[in-house]
Amino acid sequence: AESWVIMVTAQTPTNIAVIKYWGKRDEKLILPVNDSISVTLDPVHLCTTTTVAVSPSFAQDRMWLNGKEISLSGGRYQNCLREIRARACDVEDKERGIKISKKDWEKLHVHIASYNNFPTAAGLASSAAGFACLVFALAKLMNAKEDNSELSAIARQGSGSACRSLFGGFVKWKMGKVEDGSDSLAVQVVDEKHWDDLVIIIAVVSSRQKETSSTTGMRETVETSLLLQHRAKEIVPKRIVQMEESIKNRNFASFAHLTCADSNQFHAVCMDTCPPIFYMNDTSHRIISCVEKWNRSVGTPQVAYTFDAGPNAVLIAHNRKAAAQLLQKLLFYFPPNSDTELNSYVLGDKSILK
Ligand code: PMV
Repeated sequence: AESWVIMVTAQTPTNIAVIKYWGKRDEKLILPVNDSISVTLDPVHLCTTTTVAVSPSFAQDRMWLNGKEISLSGGRYQNCLREIRARACDVEDKERGIKISKKDWEKLHVHIASYNNFPTAAGLASSAAGFACLVFALAKLMNAKEDNSELSAIARQGSGSACRSLFGGFVKWKMGKVEDGSDSLAVQVVDEKHWDDLVIIIAVVSSRQKETSSTTGMRETVETSLLLQHRAKEIVPKRIVQMEESIKNRNFASFAHLTCADSNQFHAVCMDTCPPIFYMNDTSHRIISCVEKWNRSVGTPQVAYTFDAGPNAVLIAHNRKAAAQLLQKLLFYFPPNSDTELNSYVLGDKSILK
């Protein structure tokens, strides 16, 4: 029997939304009720590394996450594998005399090994980096010719927010119009060099896993919240335009205002859900008050905050000086291992947009 292996390794950072995605109009295809905008972190602190391998000796598709085998039977993995396989092209390794034709990919199986360089249980980065990395690595292995936006529409079917991790810098996920979801994809707003004095600090408030998954939470919000309807139709479309402007002009005051307001509205929509969903805790609320007070006392915003489906704070500082002052404040008001539970700070390497 033939025995060879071809491998591809890719590394993908996670992303943090500054205009939030919350609510699906189609659960199976993962189509959102509104556009969203995110910033992709640098690949140092919160990223996934995935190796995909193909060999005629593999009897089935298998995957290991942080060294432990996991099932690939879920619809999300199956969607990504099926969509990339459908786009596979001829692959040739002349040196080793290996040739895989387009139709061979239907019979060949892959092994996938994925590692997160952050504690998976910390409820920090969602599956964003994971599915983006998986789809990108598979596309390279199978020589798919699709560009990153087209790949983002496949990663989207693994996890919505994953589509935004196919690009660096600031990224917009366009909700799209068509029923099959082919126009619901990510585009780059500006690249990672455009606004490279921003610094992101993630304050780990609690490493416990969230109680309500984003899938369940979104479903309940879509079914019960009237505020979500108003947000998706009236508020977000205007904010998306304003946010793109702020980013392009590097207008931090406007950027910070929109980021904080949108995080707060996302959590208000959670509260407006029946039964209500609480992702933030007392420490999260205290961090918000602390940042608001500081920004107000200086007169112009120094730091923006945003919270996803958990209590951890993502703090975006205007520059290194503001970041240093922020760290001082966090250490003073939330000393590590005190009863406030704030147990660590993750600081972006040089900047978030390296
Ligand atoms: O892609 P999901 O299902 O993990 O949803 C992510 C939702 C938020 O992180 C709360 C917001 C966002 O836009 O990333």
